[in-house]
Amino acid sequence: MTAPRGRVTAPPGRVTPVVRVAPAKLNLTLAVVGRRPDGFHLLHSVMTTLDLADRLALGPAFGPADLLHVVGAGSSPAPDVGPERENLVLRAIAAARRAIRAAGDDRPLPALAVRLEKRIPVAAGLGGGSSDAVAALDGALEAWGVADLLDAGTRMAVAASLGSDCPFFLGGGWAVVEGRGEHVVPVEPPRGGSLGVVLVTPAVAVPTRAAFERYAAGTRPAGAAALASSTHLVTELRAGLSTMRLLERAGVLALANDLAPAAADLVPDLTRARRALSRLLDRPVGQSGSGPTLWALYASKADAAGDAAIIRAALADGLVRLPGERPPFVAAAALVGVPSSVPS
Ligand code: C5P
Repeated sequence: MTAPRGRVTAPPGRVTPVVRVAPAKLNLTLAVVGRRPDGFHLLHSVMTTLDLADRLALGPAFGPADLLHVVGAGSSPAPDVGPERENLVLRAIAAARRAIRAAGDDRPLPALAVRLEKRIPVAAGLGGGSSDAVAALDGALEAWGVADLLDAGTRMAVAASLGSDCPFFLGGGWAVVEGRGEHVVPVEPPRGGSLGVVLVTPAVAVPTRAAFERYAAGTRPAGAAALASSTHLVTELRAGLSTMRLLERAGVLALANDLAPAAADLVPDLTRARRALSRLLDRPVGQSGSGPTLWALYASKADAAGDAAIIRAALADGLVRLPGERPPFVAAAALVGVPSSVPS
């Protein structure tokens, strides 16, 4: 069997150094449409990848165990990504090893050392941990030279076993995501260039589980407005929606997140912060995933960068206050339709 084009195939038992980018995601809509018997919620969400991305470098560990070394971007301190053994990157590598064994291949799969450079805020609703896991899964298979041994269905199953957002990151780009997160169908990106976004993440982690628990306990919107907005957006994207038309719908999209009340309940002052940002920027402000990341959409990343600077100045002057003991993460990003356009 030959390896897919562009893949490097290492000799058995050797590790080829591999670098991967792991993009963040943005939920433009997030509707909760039901609950499975196992407790997971059924979703309808339009998601896209961003050019904000973590970076992973995989190489040989020269020892018996896989290793993870987390660093911050540039001179920033390494963020707290939780206990090492529970980290999704190491779990993804272990899952990749098990999947290769289950495929009947018994060649040596040496321990890997991963350097993870975090740029995506942690527990922020931007899918950073899930994206890191998918990049580690893909990177490990390539580092061992066994990428051709797992078909697309098996990769999808392994990704789904790691987390609900993981199947989306196998393809990235613009997609409608349903089920628990495992039904991913690409949709047309809006026409007319990449939209920009300002991301504001208060320094308060919101674990996904906690947000869904609040939702299940009744902290949720009445009615199905988010689902109506979400399905309508998919119809419009399939009909060739332009970026300008999408921007005109930002007010509707900003309201189309069924987990927003749960996040507001978990993070006191999140609603007040959202209103203050909306007033400052004079545009709708939405929430990505289970939060607390807030977003505002722009015609371009350059436009978004201008307003990111305005937010930083307003924070420095005390004109806007956000929840959290530390300063928030404020960044401009582009909504990238094709994952390969994420810069490395
Ligand atoms: O799949 P993941 O590990 O990211 O999910 C974390 C938690 O969020 C789950 O254990 C579950 O409680 C909740 N969840 C949910 N429905 C989803 C995704 C996550 O209830 N579709």
